[in-house]
Amino acid sequence: MKRVNRIKEVRDLIAFTNRKPVGFVPTMGALHMGHLSLAEAAVKACPEVVVSIFVNPTQFNDPEDLKNYPRNTKADLELLSPVLRGNDIIFTPEVNEIYPEPDKRVFGFGDLEKVMEGARRPGHFNGVAQVVSKLFDIVKPDMAFFGQKDFQQLTIIKELVRITGSNVKIISCPIVREKDGLAMSSRNMLLEPSIRKEAGIIFRTINSAAQRFFKSDIVSLKSEVSQAINSLPGFALEYFEIADDVELKLLGSASGLIPGRKYYACIAVRAGKIRLIDNVEIPLV
Ligand code: PAJ
Repeated sequence: MKRVNRIKEVRDLIAFTNRKPVGFVPTMGALHMGHLSLAEAAVKACPEVVVSIFVNPTQFNDPEDLKNYPRNTKADLELLSPVLRGNDIIFTPEVNEIYPEPDKRVFGFGDLEKVMEGARRPGHFNGVAQVVSKLFDIVKPDMAFFGQKDFQQLTIIKELVRITGSNVKIISCPIVREKDGLAMSSRNMLLEPSIRKEAGIIFRTINSAAQRFFKSDIVSLKSEVSQAINSLPGFALEYFEIADDVELKLLGSASGLIPGRKYYACIAVRAGKIRLIDNVEIPLV
C-alpha cells in the first residue's frame, strides 16, 4: 500500500491506474474492526482501493469533541497493512490540503437532516457532505463503502450522490459489534471503564425493542427503552426513534409502515461524557 498526503498524488495514482472499479473507504481514523470490514469489502469488490484518514473539522459542531477525537495514524497504518494490497492507497491529508480556504457550500438535505443526529448536531451533515463531496472529487471512485452504523449519514450520502448527479455506487456494510453487542466506534476508547462495562445495554435494549415491534406500540417501546437506559448510572437517553431508510420519517405507529421500505430502531445515548449512536433493523416478517 502507498501512503500519500497530497491531492495531486492521489489524482496522479488514480489517473494512471487501469484497475477498475476503484473503491473508496472514507474514515476519520482511530480505526477498528468496523472500518476494516469496509476496507475488506472494498478490496473484495475492487482491484484498486483508496482509504482516506481525515478528521474533518467541518462536521464537528462541538470544538471539544474535535479536540478529543482520537488520532493514531501509526496504529491505523498497521491495522490496514494486512488488508490492503501493494497498489492500494491510503490518503492522509492535512486540514489545509482539503480546506485551503473555508468551504462555504450549503447542501440542502431537507427533512433528512431535521431529525435525530441532524436535529441535535447543527451543521454536522453539511460538514460530512462538504468533505465527502471533496473526497469523491479527488478519488473519483466507482464504489464507496459506508457503514450501516451511521444510518442517517448513509441515507444522506445517497441523497448527496443523487443531488450532485454523481455516478458513485454507495455500498452499505453491516455494523460490526463487540462481544457484548456494543457497536464498534472510535469513541468507545474514550469511555470510562465503569461505563464501558455496562455499555452493552444499548444494543440489548434496541434489539429487544425491535424484536417486540409488532407485540407492543411505539409509545410503550419508547418508554421501556428510556427506562432501561436512564436507570443505569451515567447513562442518559437522547432519543429512540423508528425511521425508514428512504425519507427518515419517524414512525408514530406500526400502521404507518410504507410497503417496500426498511425500518430501523435508532438510538443516541450519553454514556458518561461520550455520545454513542446505534441502530438495528426492525424484522418486518
Ligand atoms: P468514521 O466515524 O471514521 O467512520 C468511517 C466509516 O466507518 C463510516 O462509513 C462508518 O459508518 C463506518 N463504521 C464505523 N463504525 C462501524 C461499525 N462498528 N461497523 C461498521 N461500519 C462502521 O463516518 C465518518 O467517519 C465520517 O463522517 C466520514 C464519512 C469519514 C466523513 O468525514
